[in-house]
Amino acid sequence: MIATNFGPFASRITGTGSAFPDQRLTNLELTKKIDTTDEWIRERTGIQERRIAQAGSEADRNSSLGARAALAALEMAAKTASDIDLILYATCTPDTLIPSTACWLQKKIGATKAWALDVNAACSGFVFGLATADSFLRSGQFKTALVVGGDILTSMTNWEDRGSCILFGDGAGAAIVERTEATNPRRILSVHMGADGRHWELFHVQAGGSNMEVTAEVRAKKLDKMEMKGREMFKVAVRTLGDYAVQALESNGLALGDLDWLVPHQANLRIIEAVAKRLELPMEKVLINIDRYGNTSSATIPTALDEGVRKGLVKPGETVLLDAFGAGVTYGSILMRW
Ligand code: UT7
Repeated sequence: MIATNFGPFASRITGTGSAFPDQRLTNLELTKKIDTTDEWIRERTGIQERRIAQAGSEADRNSSLGARAALAALEMAAKTASDIDLILYATCTPDTLIPSTACWLQKKIGATKAWALDVNAACSGFVFGLATADSFLRSGQFKTALVVGGDILTSMTNWEDRGSCILFGDGAGAAIVERTEATNPRRILSVHMGADGRHWELFHVQAGGSNMEVTAEVRAKKLDKMEMKGREMFKVAVRTLGDYAVQALESNGLALGDLDWLVPHQANLRIIEAVAKRLELPMEKVLINIDRYGNTSSATIPTALDEGVRKGLVKPGETVLLDAFGAGVTYGSILMRW
């Protein structure tokens, strides 16, 4: 599906923020728990360490990290919580199933005017949330949205599965998205989104939803934890991230290599390198944080973007492509002029 500007309004990100738990888990520490090496993890994934939320810690709750990221984004945008009309919280690891994590966050930051809901598209969640916010803002219905991507993937990690547990970490990233004139060059230029439920088996959690209750037996079999077919997921990721990036460039009349910044989902550095190669981009034009945080699911893109913005790398007028891929499978890209 393609959405481009067709009315008087567009939208743009005016503030970003990030938050991570304090506790680090290094590769070396992982070698004490499972049969792996620091060298294997670095070479095969690019990850050096990740952050782990402490179970039971109020500060490390998904919505608490999201609230910290949201407040930082509000400050950058020079807005207050009372300016927010809409909160979209992208997560597949909600604080609670009821109420939504968006409502927990709304309470924490005091955004009393906003309506609030969760979006679940796994690792593509932030990009799906941003596409949804863009649509509401372009319709003219609202002025200001808060989009958060936050996940505590370690709550669903099978620490006995060395093929997956080395990948995941926890964190949250946020963006304030504001309505602007469609004539403003600094805006979201296009949105390309997709999903293919036929590939559900590549990455899923069997229990915990209405399909299967989490009983002692289910817990013993780890059916409430993530199951991933890593090699197959890798291939689909490289293909769809590349395809959706190329579609975004082509539909905006841009050539390969024209991007100032690629902000890809951070699942594996080798996936990112393959996509950059296809786009003829040097790695210096790719915002990376997987080395320090691992795969934080819906938080990878907003936190990598936030880091690029705060370091002064991403400058006004530059062309930025967000490129996502996740369980479902889900995928999508958003091209914007910063
Ligand atoms: O957010 C989106 C979802 N996630 C992804 O997109 C992840 C995509 N997949 C990947 O990133 C990679 O497939 C992995 C990092 C998960 C695995 O890397 P790989 O290069 O595809 O390894 P592999 O599964 O093909 O396994 C190669 C070997 C195997 O040993 P044998 O059979 O060749 O003897 C594995 O048992 O590496 C072994 N292995 C490990 N060795 C040391 C698997 N995990 C580990 C480990 N440490 N942690």
